[in-house]
Amino acid sequence: MTLPAPEVSREVQSRLLSRYRRIRNETESLADPLSAEDMQLQSMPDASPTKWHLAHTTWFFETFILRQEIPNYRVFDPAYHEIFNSYYNSLGQPFSRPHRGMLSRPCREEIYEYRQFVDRAMSRLLGDIEIDGALHKLVTLGLNHEQQHQELLLTDIKHAFSINPGYPAYLDASEEEEESPSGPEPLDWIEIAGGTYSIGVEGEDFCFDNEGPAHRNLLRDFRIASRLVTNGEYREFIEDGGYQEPRLWLSDGWAWVRETQAQHPAYWRNREGRWYQFTLAGLQPEQDAEPVCHLNFYEADAFASWVGQRLPTEFEWEVAACQLRAPDQLAAANLLEKRNWRPQAARGQRQFLGDVWEWTSSAYLPYPGFRASADAVGEYNGKFMCNQKVLRGGSCVTPADHIRMSYRNFFYPHQSWQFSGLRLAGDNP
Ligand code: AVJ
Ligand code: FE
Repeated sequence: MTLPAPEVSREVQSRLLSRYRRIRNETESLADPLSAEDMQLQSMPDASPTKWHLAHTTWFFETFILRQEIPNYRVFDPAYHEIFNSYYNSLGQPFSRPHRGMLSRPCREEIYEYRQFVDRAMSRLLGDIEIDGALHKLVTLGLNHEQQHQELLLTDIKHAFSINPGYPAYLDASEEEEESPSGPEPLDWIEIAGGTYSIGVEGEDFCFDNEGPAHRNLLRDFRIASRLVTNGEYREFIEDGGYQEPRLWLSDGWAWVRETQAQHPAYWRNREGRWYQFTLAGLQPEQDAEPVCHLNFYEADAFASWVGQRLPTEFEWEVAACQLRAPDQLAAANLLEKRNWRPQAARGQRQFLGDVWEWTSSAYLPYPGFRASADAVGEYNGKFMCNQKVLRGGSCVTPADHIRMSYRNFFYPHQSWQFSGLRLAGDNP
């Protein structure tokens, strides 16, 4: 027996429609500085062309909502079903991910027409038809999905530009901030008492399925750093021979160092003894007080070993972030809306939200009792719970109304093209 789905009030539904319009427009404004040639680039298998992001997010609404909800819905183009399917195997074999950049057609104009076509149908659905609670949830998932791709669009174009020796800028640096002469904020250690804590959420507000079920978790006493690790601190690790010292690295990490010959993080460039970093504003001088960024998990772990500390578990991170949250922290956080396009030096705030995603030592695993839904949407998160690590807290390109303390991002340990860094943790003596 299935219970009747709860109805959604007109007011809630019209708020959903405004949110739909706002988020869809935001994606297009993020793509605005790019040329058609820029939008075609795929610089590595993990990254996707801007064009593909613009179309895939649209495909998500068409496939999971319009085709289900609108009787006799005619899709914009039947060929899109395969080429803009990312990884939903229950819908048929998706187009090869590493070859997304080989698709010159549909061209950019067609993709914008596709977006308009789907937006008009979605506006009719949300504007004229009474939706139920289940559909409200699905549209909200589609919007959160689009926001994930806003971040990916930026990290992917940053990677594409980074391999160009001319170091193109996505945007020019506005007022480039002067390095503060006082250096980074001092790092404080905050002690958190062990005990049994509730982890994860299930509630009225939207969250992804992997954030629940809420469950209890036993923690020992631990301590956690009051801010993120900075470029200057990481530079000392490089200059101390960190990349030459196998004892600091996990076995897989050392294999990665040997294989890639890595001597410094991705996007770091040395010019006549000075460090520069590739940013969305092109190649810029390295700033010591800024959080270190574009580390992979192995680098984050090796740095923590060099300091004699460790990464927090995702559970420690969540408990600490919730206990130490300041009332204004979301407003203060360096998230996408600030349009800084890069992490920023700590100034009093503890940086749990925004700046860089924080690697944790935790494997990306289901919480006890987790069950992915049996339909195609069930492929969204659950099937990736193997061999990846959890990152927490969002970055400078994460939308503010997309991040939560319970949010679990996940990537493979060798991946560094996201805005990823670290915060130190340790055991209480
Ligand atoms: C959570 C960022 C790892 O990149 O595949 C996008 C986000 N999920 N579309 C990913 C996602 C479905 C996901 N990450
Ligand atoms: Fe996706």
